[in-house]
Amino acid sequence: MKMQNSLTLKVIILTAVASSPIARNERQEHFHKLLLISFDGFRWNYDQDVNTPNMDTLAKEGVKAKYITPPFVTMTSPSHFTTITGRWIEDHGVIHNMMFNTETLRKYSHKATQNKTEWWDNQVLPLWITAQNQGKKTASFHYPGGGANYSGQAVNRSLVEAFDHPDSNETEWRENIDIVMNWFTKEDFDFVTLYYGEPDNIGHKFGPETENRKAIIQQIDRTIGYLRAAIEKYGLSNTLNVIITSDHGMTTVKKKPNVKEILLINYIKFSDLVKFDILDYGGFGMILPKPGKEEEIYQVLKSAHPNLKVYKREEFPERFHYSKHERILPILLYGDPGYSVNGRFILYVNKGDHGFDNEDMDMKTIFRAFGPDFKKGYLAEPFDSIHIYPLMCHLLGVQPEPNNGSLALTQDMLNSAASKNLLLPILVGSTIVVQLLICI
Ligand SMILES: *[C@@H]1O[C@H](CO)[C@@H](O)[C@H](O)[C@H]1NC(C)=O
Ligand SMILES: *[C@@H]1O[C@H](CO)[C@@H](O)[C@H](O)[C@H]1NC(C)=O
Ligand SMILES: *[C@@H]1O[C@H](CO)[C@@H](O)[C@H](O)[C@H]1NC(C)=O
Ligand SMILES: *[C@@H]1O[C@H](CO)[C@@H](O)[C@H](O)[C@H]1NC(C)=O
Ligand SMILES: *[C@@H]1O[C@H](CO)[C@@H](O)[C@H](O)[C@H]1NC(C)=O
Ligand SMILES: [Zn+2]
Repeated sequence: MKMQNSLTLKVIILTAVASSPIARNERQEHFHKLLLISFDGFRWNYDQDVNTPNMDTLAKEGVKAKYITPPFVTMTSPSHFTTITGRWIEDHGVIHNMMFNTETLRKYSHKATQNKTEWWDNQVLPLWITAQNQGKKTASFHYPGGGANYSGQAVNRSLVEAFDHPDSNETEWRENIDIVMNWFTKEDFDFVTLYYGEPDNIGHKFGPETENRKAIIQQIDRTIGYLRAAIEKYGLSNTLNVIITSDHGMTTVKKKPNVKEILLINYIKFSDLVKFDILDYGGFGMILPKPGKEEEIYQVLKSAHPNLKVYKREEFPERFHYSKHERILPILLYGDPGYSVNGRFILYVNKGDHGFDNEDMDMKTIFRAFGPDFKKGYLAEPFDSIHIYPLMCHLLGVQPEPNNGSLALTQDMLNSAASKNLLLPILVGSTIVVQLLICI
């Protein structure tokens, strides 16, 4: 009897929630604010050979995934946009860090694309815009894609990284945290994305297996300590969920005389065969052949170098979910881990790089989360970064756009208060059954 009564009560409440016009707003009150932080190029195991007391504490107070898999191509803008849209790269169309035009032959650097709506806005809405359309207030602090307009709408507040922005100024890192804390407390923002350019920059410059990289991880760890203290100081501990993640890992670039480097001009004559190319950009490259030259380039390059993978666009492995977008050039190339795809010459600048196969462990990256809706001390199994999007929508109480992620992969990290919303549709669905039971 008792059980039936409580069931009856639940049914009544649920029916009321479902039918009341103010129900949505009331329900929104129960959703917490969300901060998404990305540290560019944070390989999954960077915290394992250096002291990271704050990240260790975070793992005890929240959720840590063993690692996560970024989408292919393992590159900054494409991967960040998958996180904020929940769509594969071939769907959202931000297929490279560089914007390019095969008619004008122009290329725009990663930073130069940040203000270019035409590169980002391909009919796939990022979470900022979707959340704004559902009554939330959102902001982007240097996060890739935050500076563009989508279907004519801008992110409510957006700071775009300047060309000369320093990547590793620890004082500025802390100031940025305070700015964001004020956005949440003084201006009632619901969702903020915050981006840091490290440890990517150091990983490229010195290589991932160096003391320089260990030092920047310790700087990041101190910053995370500062963040935790700031959340406390601003009184946000019970109202703010935080996800800390990244876009890809990093691997040491292999160089002569240890290996035979990949240099395409050793095999093909560019002036005869190639109209346009995106090469010399880490582990991945693309070629637009001159008319009628596709087969020749493909046949020559296919067997050119034992550590070079070469595909025609239509034969690119499905598991990458990368090649279907119209911006993809006809010939795709990627190197085995550490083998950069060089074109006409080798720029001996980067000691570390990415862009390689996302199945390679060196390309895997991090996922941490804490806050009122997350379990404490929970170690999550690895998952694909594409599943972060439905998780964020769930935390914010935002109806997601069509996407390629699934909440099923991440819901175990939520505590019971946060996952009760998951039960709602199930309970509503079984209302009839329950009522029948009660009638009897
Ligand atoms: C976004 O739209 C606004 C208003 O139409 C415009 O002023 C601004 O320049 C646009 N920004 C970008 C990056 O396209
Ligand atoms: C945020 O932007 C949306 C448009 O995307 C707009 O409707 C809304 O009024 C803005 N909110 C604030 C608080 O500026
Ligand atoms: C983006 O646009 C803003 C406003 O016009 C400008 O101040 C800034 O320099 C631009 N940044 C980049 C990276 O182009
Ligand atoms: C680091 O940032 C702080 C605060 O923005 C600034 O005052 C300082 O000059 C910066 N230091 C360097 C070396 O750029
Ligand atoms: C990804 O999601 C979009 C939108 O629902 C869909 O059109 C597309 O087919 C999905 N891609 C895959 C590989 O399932
Ligand atoms: Zn990088």
